[in-house]
Amino acid sequence: MTQRDGFTSTFGVLVATLGSAVGLGNIWKFPYLTGTNGGAGFLLVYLLATLLLGLPVMIAETMLGRATRANAVTAFERLRPRQPFWQIIGYMGLLAAVLILGFYTEVAGWVFAYIAKALTGTLIHGDAAAAQAQFGQTISAPASALFWQWLVLALAGGIIMLGVSKGIEAVTKKLMPVLFVLLLLLCVRSLTLPGAAEGLRFLFAPDFSRITPAVVLTAVGLAFFKLSVGMGTMLTYGSYFRDNQNIPATAGRVMLADLSISLLAGMAIFPAVFTFHFQPTDGPGLVFLTIPSVFASLPGGSIFTVLFFVLTAIASMGAILSILEVPVAMITERLQWSRRKATLCTVLLIAALGAPAALSQGVLEHTTLFGLSAFGLYDFVSSNVLLPVGGLLICLFVGWVIGPRWVQAQLSNQDTLDNQWLVKAIFFVVRYVSPVLIVIVLLRGMKVI
Ligand code: PFF
Repeated sequence: MTQRDGFTSTFGVLVATLGSAVGLGNIWKFPYLTGTNGGAGFLLVYLLATLLLGLPVMIAETMLGRATRANAVTAFERLRPRQPFWQIIGYMGLLAAVLILGFYTEVAGWVFAYIAKALTGTLIHGDAAAAQAQFGQTISAPASALFWQWLVLALAGGIIMLGVSKGIEAVTKKLMPVLFVLLLLLCVRSLTLPGAAEGLRFLFAPDFSRITPAVVLTAVGLAFFKLSVGMGTMLTYGSYFRDNQNIPATAGRVMLADLSISLLAGMAIFPAVFTFHFQPTDGPGLVFLTIPSVFASLPGGSIFTVLFFVLTAIASMGAILSILEVPVAMITERLQWSRRKATLCTVLLIAALGAPAALSQGVLEHTTLFGLSAFGLYDFVSSNVLLPVGGLLICLFVGWVIGPRWVQAQLSNQDTLDNQWLVKAIFFVVRYVSPVLIVIVLLRGMKVI
């Protein structure tokens, strides 16, 4: 086997993993889903799903990757060569990666389009109807939708060809603190707007009647999506982890940082929704509509708007790179293709598959399957089906096939760690709690029971 690239420091691991977790999921998807699914109740379910499902699956995945130093198919092949069934986790992850990139690169394209608007001073803010019209035009014009999506793909392909440590680590290390500070600033401004109280009530005072099985499934899907788990991304990243990396601590920190960024984005956006007369249910455009209005109320606002969208674009790139790494690592290691060839083929496939998603806000608006556009379908199948099912299989594999001794050795880094209870608790959750919850949520959410 060829020499595998790896992360160069413990801190580098943390930052790169965060680079995968933090992206459009925090800044675009979390606020818009919280808005369309009733606010605080959804947030509460999302928090529980993150703790009881996302975090345990993240620990399980990174552990499998580090132990096998392989991609998401080979890892299961190495651990259980005579049970090829488990390799399905890797193949489902491959499908999820392609579907997610199909719509994710489109949204990243909208961000790029908004950078261009902010730079040229053509971004509308303050007037809700005009801002909505501008967003509608941006996402529905076919040529520009495709142009921005393909630009994003070309950029991501270029970066990934540089390799793991040089490409991913270098980009993400510098970005996170700046994004965090900018969101903090946005938040402070938003919390002093007249609609702040109403925004905070929407975000933090739950209305339990809004929590339906479908809402719970969406929250669970978001929890997996946000932490990049259930499809082999964290397994692939885990395969580049250092031997002495403390996996539970890293996963815990990533989860907390990721959650803080989502909450900051929520606290920046919802006060603005109520101040500038938008609706929480405005959907995928929410962040694009509200943020320019908040910045416009600050001195030097237009520069901050540009900076915000540039940072969002970079954050989304970190996530895109991590998703691309799943097929690229799999193809290079299993088919022995060069990294360049594997990247090129994957990017071309996604460009083809992503086109219907890009066009589904415009010319293909009425072309639907099961009532969903290509964009909606890719999102639903990946986030709400493939990731939870992948997470379920990973839990079953770790909890029932691999067993406690192996997990113990991995999580304590072959050592007799003094906090054995933690390892036991993690194992208990992975073996019993997460699988049962995922099955119930999936069956109820899909109206099977
Ligand atoms: N977690 C990323 C975000 O929140 O934007 C999206 C993502 C990355 C999903 C990697 C899945 C994945 F494997």
